[in-house]
Amino acid sequence: MKQELAEDPREAPQPGREARPARADGVAPDAAWRALLDGASAPYRAAGRFAWHFARGKLGRDPVFRALLERGELAGRARVLDIGCGQGLLASLLQACAEAAAQGRWPAAWGEAPGARQYTGIELMTRDVARAQAATAGLALAPRFVCADMRQAELPDCDLVVILDVLHYVDHAAQAALLARVRSALGRRGRLLLRVGDMDDARGFAASQWVDRLVTTVRGHRVPPTWGRSVAQWRELLQGLGFAVQALPMSRGTPFANVLLLADATAIDGDRA
Ligand SMILES: C[S@@+](CC[C@H](N)C(=O)[O-])C[C@H]1O[C@@H](n2cnc3c(N)ncnc32)[C@H](O)[C@@H]1O
Repeated sequence: MKQELAEDPREAPQPGREARPARADGVAPDAAWRALLDGASAPYRAAGRFAWHFARGKLGRDPVFRALLERGELAGRARVLDIGCGQGLLASLLQACAEAAAQGRWPAAWGEAPGARQYTGIELMTRDVARAQAATAGLALAPRFVCADMRQAELPDCDLVVILDVLHYVDHAAQAALLARVRSALGRRGRLLLRVGDMDDARGFAASQWVDRLVTTVRGHRVPPTWGRSVAQWRELLQGLGFAVQALPMSRGTPFANVLLLADATAIDGDRA
């Protein structure tokens, strides 16, 4: 009987899938989210006032973070790679989620809690990496940050790649080359979560470009040009690389035209087992 179970593909261990964390029926989602926001922001006090205010503002106002948790999109993926990670907010959020789930504070109404065991962030800006390291140094997740240009950085083997609002900083050829390397790093059951602006939505895309320029100027960086695509063009690129793609609008409460692409690797030649 045991033999039969082991041979059932539904019973076979999935890469990165660990025992499911406990969920508590009595936990109200809004209260759970507020606690996660507090928990994920708190480590940034160690990185200074700006880092803490930025963490609270970004995690609290950007709809993508709560949506990923509510939908269970980070579940069952042990090795996470966050490209263009900024000050590493996702690492801190993953840590707060692990603690909430372990303590039975995960709302039953949400999808399964994230299962991250390993986190690598790649970020170009040294100041962001310094803030990320200062904030997250004591976390049990022990996130690793690499200060590098994603176009050249080595990508570790992983189960989940997250790229939020980053790819438009590099040209179309560099976007395609990076996504091909992401596909190889993921192997056959991996998943990419890619948030992009939809260039077909002219008004929303212009709003995000305007904010990008303002933020890069305020942060004292050279203002780079940006390279967009329509959602249809992103989808075509990803499908050509061996991903099955779903698109979700992801700019609720903002003036932007952001879309989250859930891209699941489909088997291709040369995949790792
Ligand atoms: C809009 S921020 C998004 C940060 C983070 N993903 C988030 O959602 O909070 C874009 C980030 O991409 C980084 N970035 C831009 N070009 C990059 C490159 N070539 N390599 C690595 N990081 C890059 C920027 O420095 C910035 O931190």
